[in-house]
Amino acid sequence: MPPPSPAAATSNAPAPPLPDYLVDTYHWAYLNRRLLPWLDRQAVVNAILWGNADQLIRAACAEFEPGQRILQAACVYGVFSPVLARRLGPGGRLEVVDVSRLQVANARRKLRGLPQARVRRADLVRPLGTTHDGVLAFFLLHEVPPGQRRAIVDNLLAAVEPGGKAVFVDYHRPARWHPLGPLMHLVFRLFEPYAPSLLDQAIHELSPRAEAFTWSRRTCFGGLYQVVVARHRGTKANQDGGERSNGHSPESTNAPSVHPAAAPAARLPACVR
Ligand SMILES: C[S@@+](CC[C@H](N)C(=O)[O-])C[C@H]1O[C@@H](n2cnc3c(N)ncnc32)[C@H](O)[C@@H]1O
Repeated sequence: MPPPSPAAATSNAPAPPLPDYLVDTYHWAYLNRRLLPWLDRQAVVNAILWGNADQLIRAACAEFEPGQRILQAACVYGVFSPVLARRLGPGGRLEVVDVSRLQVANARRKLRGLPQARVRRADLVRPLGTTHDGVLAFFLLHEVPPGQRRAIVDNLLAAVEPGGKAVFVDYHRPARWHPLGPLMHLVFRLFEPYAPSLLDQAIHELSPRAEAFTWSRRTCFGGLYQVVVARHRGTKANQDGGERSNGHSPESTNAPSVHPAAAPAARLPACVR
């Protein structure tokens, strides 16, 4: 029997209801069939991110290696998912999870021809029930109210296998001098009511599971964006009851494990490695 269509994995699980915050706040952005073709353009994503989209996508994708099995938490407009799927290559696996039927269908369309990618419908506020080499949330957390945000971060960290990585790319409080500060304040007030609660919130404080990870954060574009990387301090061997390690990468093995609360926010000129 031929394998199922690459980006159209099906599930017997009942379809999850849409979260209230999505329906109430973001219906126009993610649930409106007519607006979708206008919004799902790389030029639009790049304009919303003040020309930083390509850099941020590169920074996120560079955290993962060809051949890895990565979970992308929520669909993203523009080229993000195809770029990540290509980065993982035919030997890797990209699983995209989103709660919106419209977004799932749209992502499957964009991932056609990339058999390493699957898209399924699920609410990330609920435990995922799968584990991966890495998980990634690209501008998801600022669109989620604080309670659900905690649950999502907790579920994503739970889905990272020992030695794996969680990557969060999102807004961050810009520097006081930032010329776009007042405008972003207005944008958040008008369109992104949950974003301000993320700006001063360290992501590692959102889940007790953070203790099992070594955290680092870098910001760019005057602090408006952050790339947060959490490396699971275990190793694959741990899972099998083997040798324990303080970290899976050379950096984290050599360095003492940084307590999340003590991890400094490194400031880089650009979010690119
Ligand atoms: C990743 S976020 C924002 C991405 C970014 N603004 C962009 O460029 O598209 C948008 C997606 O999150 C999804 N989403 C929001 N809450 C979710 C949840 N609890 N579970 C799964 N998907 C969720 C929405 O359906 C939507 O497709």
